[in-house]
Amino acid sequence: MTVLVVGGLREEHFASTLRAVSGDLEVRVSPNIGRKEDIRYALAWEPPPGLLKTLPNLELIVSVGAGVDHLFRDPELPEVPVVRFVDADLTGRMVEFVVLNVLLHHRRMTEFREQQSKVEWKYLPEPASHDVRVGIMGLGVLGGAASQALAKLGYRLRGWSRTEKRVDGVDCYFGNQLDAFLAETDVLVVLLPLTSETRGLINRNLLAKLSQRGRDERLPGPVLINAGRGGLQVESDILAALDIGQLYAASLDVFETEPLPETSPLWRHPRVVITPHCAAESDPRAIADYTIAQIEALRRGERLKHVVDRTRGY
Ligand SMILES: NC(=O)c1ccc[n+]([C@@H]2O[C@H](COP(=O)([O-])OP(=O)(O)OC[C@H]3O[C@@H](n4cnc5c(N)ncnc54)[C@H](OP(=O)(O)O)[C@@H]3O)[C@@H](O)[C@H]2O)c1
Repeated sequence: MTVLVVGGLREEHFASTLRAVSGDLEVRVSPNIGRKEDIRYALAWEPPPGLLKTLPNLELIVSVGAGVDHLFRDPELPEVPVVRFVDADLTGRMVEFVVLNVLLHHRRMTEFREQQSKVEWKYLPEPASHDVRVGIMGLGVLGGAASQALAKLGYRLRGWSRTEKRVDGVDCYFGNQLDAFLAETDVLVVLLPLTSETRGLINRNLLAKLSQRGRDERLPGPVLINAGRGGLQVESDILAALDIGQLYAASLDVFETEPLPETSPLWRHPRVVITPHCAAESDPRAIADYTIAQIEALRRGERLKHVVDRTRGY
């Protein structure tokens, strides 16, 4: 039984971990594919378009990431099940990232850092967490877990999803209730997948609808945190919203083009925090264990978990 590791930045690392923990799997790394007929499974990030369809006995594609938009860039992706990575380690990392960045802007840390650089001792008013309304776009595995962690810190939670949901302690909105969700959101956390429906959603129109009613006056303005995908956002609109005060601050982990070009003004904006798509990375040991568990489930003829719905795109 052969697994092909393909289309990522850390293929060798994933492959060596998979070899170390698997019993009977042969692990190959693209482009050293060898005899194509041997390959039954692919552990993939962004494979070269058209490659996977040349593997005649492929039975399963495991996505290295929780999102799968990178896989669907291949217009000829074979019609075998695609499972995405869902894992407690990854979820924990994303929860940390979201909590860290909500606190960072709520507690005005970019301003305090700036004051420190000028050796300036100046009080700035800050609201209590229970006066800050955090709205999470995407109430799935990651958004759901982030909402529970933020609720424990006292924040007021609301969430928006495609279909109707119930989540403890969260005011839930869905579908065409987006405007109502935005109107009373002070800190917008984006944890959506990138699909044909969500591409470019975080744009000028949407940002203008944030925090229209009831914002505590000690919070200087709405905040955007995007840890979903760069294709969800229009960066020129985010910069314009920051410049005219429609946004107070932003934390961006993902970008329209990655790495973020040196020329982007986002790098130098005093209220923007930039991280290099590392909000929640896939741990090699966790992805190896997950891949083996999925392959074993497939071999036993069991129903696979976390299968991607190709019509929804996530
Ligand atoms: N930056 C990083 O390091 C990093 C790491 C991991 C993941 N991610 C990103 O995080 C995303 C979310 O991961 P997850 O595991 O939480 O995914 P998930 O469990 O599939 O949840 C996705 C959520 O988005 C909602 N959604 C999808 N399309 C929508 C639409 N058109 N309108 C409204 N809501 C919509 C879904 O609604 P329903 O509940 O109604 O289906 C669901 O609540 C991934 O797709 C990936 O892009 C980023």
